[in-house]
Amino acid sequence: MRRIRQSEGLRRLSQEAGVRKEDFILPVFIVPGKRRNEPVPSMPDVSRTSVDLLRKRMAETDVVAVLLFGVPDSSDKDEAGSMAVKDDGIIPSAIRAVKDERSDLVVITDVCMCAYTTHGHCGLLTQSGHVDNDGTLEVLAHMAEVHASEGADIVAPSAMMDGQIMAIREKLELSGFTNTAVMSYAAKFASSFYGPFRDAAQSAPSFGDRRSYQISPANRREAVRDALLDEEEGADWLMVKPGLPFLDVLAELRRATRLPIAAYQVSGEYAMLKHAAKAGALDERDAVLETAMCLKRAGADAIITYYAEDICKWIRY
Ligand code: PBG
Repeated sequence: MRRIRQSEGLRRLSQEAGVRKEDFILPVFIVPGKRRNEPVPSMPDVSRTSVDLLRKRMAETDVVAVLLFGVPDSSDKDEAGSMAVKDDGIIPSAIRAVKDERSDLVVITDVCMCAYTTHGHCGLLTQSGHVDNDGTLEVLAHMAEVHASEGADIVAPSAMMDGQIMAIREKLELSGFTNTAVMSYAAKFASSFYGPFRDAAQSAPSFGDRRSYQISPANRREAVRDALLDEEEGADWLMVKPGLPFLDVLAELRRATRLPIAAYQVSGEYAMLKHAAKAGALDERDAVLETAMCLKRAGADAIITYYAEDICKWIRY
């Protein structure tokens, strides 16, 4: 085996997977108001920012795509998450600002209610406190329509309601947004690795958990089945989330579909790498690039990671 590993040139020739800066999507948390830059305590070097600061950052960024998360102030939340569908809400103004500053950037928006509801669940609640699947579909479809009308290239529903892809696709077709793509958080697991995100997005459920809608981390078959249903419903992209703990799911889904797949290196994975690097236990650049390469090797076409901007600098070519 060592004959093919003798020199850098030989090793490069036989290299299978690699990363390009076009592979990365940067998630950003957006708060209302102006000149707000609030560091997220559990995610060192990540901040929530207002639209004006986002705009400045986008003017200089090397990344080719962003995934926008709205983080309303708690006084703007209600039971029904009504801020999520406002035309003058946080995400509509963020989409406009990003597109105005950099029309070349691919804008993807998260479509979910958890940051907008007082109870922190990803959908509406029934009288008895259960998450109402079919009632939620209408809100998600409306939210996607608002994002599409402001110029989002891709809407990314993450609520894990059954039928959400079909509901959104139908709404987009009916309102004339035939070119807006849908990226389904198809294989989204009920993971403890979302902890820091819920801190950043202030979206932790106020009671219970998300296990009645997100997939059990024990279940690979069920995850592939869920993703293939989303393909049938009209998804343009599928996603596996979190990333590294679910490489087997990613590899299996790669074989089961011809759609492009995104892998989401989530907040907890980011925090593990960041804290280990800060403690001197890992070389940050090498470790992060290795995780990205491994996600590509397992079958990801694109990678969503809070390290996207660092990676684009590190691999400059
Ligand atoms: C919203 C949503 C979550 C994440 C992305 N979209 C949190 C959750 O489901 O609780 C997590 C992303 C991350 O941890 O980086 N439903």
